[in-house]
Amino acid sequence: MKKTSNFFDFLVSHAKICGFIFPSSEIYGGLKAVYDYGPYGVELKNNIKNFWWKSMTQLHDNILGIDSSILMHSDVWKASGHIDEFNELLIDNKDSKKRYRPDVLIKKHIEKNLSKNTKKKEEILSRLYKSLKKKDLLDIRTLIDELNIFDPIYKTKNWTKIRFFNMMFKIKHTKDLFLRPETSQGIFSNFKNIRKSNRMKIPFGIAQIGKSFRNEIIARKFIFRLREFEQMEMQFFIAPEEEMKWYEYWKKLRFKWHLILNVENKKDYRLCNHTHLAHYASAGTDIEYHFPFGFQEIEGIHSRRDFDLKNHELFSKKKLRVFESEKNYTPYVIETSLGLDRLFLAIFSSSLKEEKLENGKIRVLLKLPYYLSPIKAAIFPLVRKDGLPEVAKNIFNDIKIYHKLIYDHKESIGRLYRRQDSIGTPLCFTVDYETTKTYTVTMRDRDTMQQKRIHINEISKMIEKETGFEKILKKLSY
Ligand code: GAP
Repeated sequence: MKKTSNFFDFLVSHAKICGFIFPSSEIYGGLKAVYDYGPYGVELKNNIKNFWWKSMTQLHDNILGIDSSILMHSDVWKASGHIDEFNELLIDNKDSKKRYRPDVLIKKHIEKNLSKNTKKKEEILSRLYKSLKKKDLLDIRTLIDELNIFDPIYKTKNWTKIRFFNMMFKIKHTKDLFLRPETSQGIFSNFKNIRKSNRMKIPFGIAQIGKSFRNEIIARKFIFRLREFEQMEMQFFIAPEEEMKWYEYWKKLRFKWHLILNVENKKDYRLCNHTHLAHYASAGTDIEYHFPFGFQEIEGIHSRRDFDLKNHELFSKKKLRVFESEKNYTPYVIETSLGLDRLFLAIFSSSLKEEKLENGKIRVLLKLPYYLSPIKAAIFPLVRKDGLPEVAKNIFNDIKIYHKLIYDHKESIGRLYRRQDSIGTPLCFTVDYETTKTYTVTMRDRDTMQQKRIHINEISKMIEKETGFEKILKKLSY
């Protein structure tokens, strides 16, 4: 199926019907840009997290994991620059009462109207970036007038002034507290603790998976841009003179990681250097994925230099410098920052297929990498009589401690297969009349739909071989 808006609607509906993703608080009409992960969604998400975690902390002996708190001392956000700099621009149309990001309005306008006039396009973008850097809101407003940009819905130009909007969620407490907008500040503020407690020497990294919160002005596209989302971040602390070496290293390794993960869809990934950098970064590249709505950022690789550690030193008055190799310095940081929900969406959209079968029927298939599938194997009885359900249930009970399995006998065998295909289960084992005589079951492979008989003692080993992390981690290990 092509990556069209129809496909996207189909994807959103499949995610809901099959128990992967539900709108948050749906019975109350929902909450914009917040979603809940259902029974299969949470399993898939946990497997993705597990794969990233192993890739970072298990394959690199100099990367350690932590789990820091969401709420932090409010000075953290002064030091990190988020209170002053973590802003988006905002403009309202007085007629439609809709709210927009003026930089996005301008970019969309030139993409639509000046796609062939590269010189003019670059001129406008360079003026926009200069004004963004200088915080010249008046000039950005003038640009909107000059380009004759109107409200996409009401087609009027009745715009308000442009203003800044801080994207952090403030919560009510005796002091100002914020929900963290990135996980990395928990890493910077623990730099000293981790270095000391684990006797780490530069270069080394700290990895973390956790929730972040941003008050996004325009939050659309399902789980692509959320107000509550999860990040998988790694901060790699290095000597300043090695900045470019490690920046290039992590760019290459992270790109390779995505290509290995989604090997059949390599062409859907590209690297894109930043033209407009975040307030903390001195160099940045995005890994972009071809989502059903176009190429968009999935992971950012940034050089944050000593921006964070130096500022935390200033605000906390604690020494965060190191004395190593006879030098006293503040380490530089290369960061890899991946959005878990975006990665989920990328994997889900590249896996969801409609396949025409030989009998002309369509099967909906979630062709996930086997090691990420929410359910590793399903065990069925061929019929619901003659003791076959009991045999199948015994097999299920014997191996459920090793793998995430499903036992099902609620429908006919054909329907049971279709259901497992639609949630991406790699293997189905069926107990039939021969099982009681030869102790064998049929094993059906999701992708080929081929069936073969195997001994019941082999089932668990087969599931591990076909769906375990070993094969994929070997490809990343060196
Ligand atoms: N610590 C650096 C940092 O947070 P970022 O580029 O702002 O950098 C990193 O975010 C990643 O987090 C993005 O590449 C994206 O995958 C994810 N992300 C950011 N904002 C998001 C949002 N509102 N919803 C879902 N994912 C988001």
